[in-house]
Amino acid sequence: MRLAHLTDIHLPIPAPPRFRDLTNKRVLGYLSWRRRRRFRHQIEPLGAIVADCHKMHPDFTAISGDLTNIALESEFSEGFQWLKNHFNGESAAFTPGNHDAYVETPWARGLGRLSQFMMGDRREENASRAPNDADDFPFTRRIGDCGLVFANSSPPTAPGLATGQLGETQINRIGAELTQLGEEKKCRILVLHHPVTEGATSGRKALVDRKGLRKTLYESGVDLILHGHTHRSIWATIETKNGVRPVVGGASASHPGAHGDYRPARYNLFSIGGDADNGWRITVDTREFDPASGDVRTAETRMLLPIA
Ligand SMILES: [Fe+2]
Ligand SMILES: [Fe+2]
Repeated sequence: MRLAHLTDIHLPIPAPPRFRDLTNKRVLGYLSWRRRRRFRHQIEPLGAIVADCHKMHPDFTAISGDLTNIALESEFSEGFQWLKNHFNGESAAFTPGNHDAYVETPWARGLGRLSQFMMGDRREENASRAPNDADDFPFTRRIGDCGLVFANSSPPTAPGLATGQLGETQINRIGAELTQLGEEKKCRILVLHHPVTEGATSGRKALVDRKGLRKTLYESGVDLILHGHTHRSIWATIETKNGVRPVVGGASASHPGAHGDYRPARYNLFSIGGDADNGWRITVDTREFDPASGDVRTAETRMLLPIA
């Protein structure tokens, strides 16, 4: 099983927003995008990353949020077109980031536009497979030996904040889904936008209920956690009652070059083997855009499970 993980795509804002769309937090966000962010995220490296991802033929692609910048209706329309041009909802899924919930937006005119990429397994004929609103998460996809639980850590926040929160109800649902997947002997993968470990980001950007989540994950078990949000690669672990498990934060898939602590555009390609009884074997290739040649190459390879 090969699983690709892309995150923090931050597509360009397609057209200048209408005056009436620039409510309080969006004004600051739009100015920040005009001044800095639009130069930090570019279509060319993103195109190279996506082309490389297709070349690698993953069985499934997980995209962990921040497709947009200030959650404009036009960004969701463009975002959906972009997703549709490069992926399909049967072999890729998306879960929201804080920029996709930048301000409160009606579901149908915002994230609901991406429903085709937020499809859970169909349990009964005619049952809706996509979340009906921001509280209707997580959704779960079973792909071969793997079960992927996509959580929404991104409620709208006040200006200046990029914090995440899952809420008690969602944390309980995540625990129940992972327990069920454990009974089915799946390799259990949790996908969300915000980091779950300590020190990955500042308090202003952190998942506020990460301790509660980790407590639930300790009990339910989980085999791999994927997140985004930091725009840098994060390699961490958490404790579960079955042992230590890897946490991998993906870097942004659209950086044109290195700047400060940040690397050029990257994505992670996981190879998953083994089984629940004898232990899962997970390795990862981090594929990185080379600004000089425009090619994408393996920047590092790591063994994640069994943990050394
Ligand atoms: Fe981001
Ligand atoms: Fe983010």
